[in-house]
Amino acid sequence: MNLELNATNLIKRFGARQLFSIDTLNLKEGDSIHLNGDNGVGKTTLMKVLAGLDKPCEGQVSVTPAKRKLWSSNLHPRVIYLHQSPYIFSGTVRENLAYGLKLRGSSRQQTNDAVDKALSWSRLEPLAHQQAYSLSGGEKQRLALARAWVLNPGLLFLDEPTANLDKKSVQNVAELVADLQNCGTAIMVSSHQSNPVTELCKQNMLLTGGQLKKNVVNEALYA
Ligand SMILES: Nc1ncnc2c1ncn2[C@@H]1O[C@H](COP(=O)(O)OP(=O)(O)OP(=O)(O)O)[C@@H](O)[C@H]1O
Ligand SMILES: [Mg+2]
Repeated sequence: MNLELNATNLIKRFGARQLFSIDTLNLKEGDSIHLNGDNGVGKTTLMKVLAGLDKPCEGQVSVTPAKRKLWSSNLHPRVIYLHQSPYIFSGTVRENLAYGLKLRGSSRQQTNDAVDKALSWSRLEPLAHQQAYSLSGGEKQRLALARAWVLNPGLLFLDEPTANLDKKSVQNVAELVADLQNCGTAIMVSSHQSNPVTELCKQNMLLTGGQLKKNVVNEALYA
């Protein structure tokens, strides 16, 4: 079933400083948005608020159809936020991939099968038994994407997914993100500049001066 996220009257402040005020924002499966904006305007904060990892001071975010959360702070098990510096759990690459599936209550057999597929999808098979903390930056980003992929994400927030990656790694990440898009996953990618991942996006939104300016671009390419 298709997911839809709706945010209304979102306001976020830190102390006396108002970071943003956004009347409405709607995201649904199939959408792809480049969230643009200068350093420090609030892109990370906005994506965390949308994913349920941070609370707005006013307003609300809801996802339909509602479902039991995967852990206490997230909004919905199929709404996933990936940090700019990929968050890696202790243990091997395999164990990292199994983590969310176990939380979901998947059986050992289901988990093993899904992890095998995710290793193949992300081309991390040769590294399956390596300690995840020892991966390179590009490999960590692929692991983070694969960990999201096994959970069949409806909406995926990618926070600067290509920062600090070389050209080849950027291309690898872009290929995985394109595949997620082809499977119907909605993506929002934050970056203050254009790159092969943001170029996959149909829409561009600019966060500036606390306001979100929504422009549809590249629509002809996706008609
Ligand atoms: N917990 C917090 N307490 C106080 N201020 C915060 C907190 N989190 C973020 N900020 C401030 O809010 C502003 C926006 O931060 P945010 O990380 O969302 O920006 P960004 O657009 O993602 O920047 P960048 O492009 O550098 O990643 C920054 O000035 C930051 O210092
Ligand atoms: Mg940021």
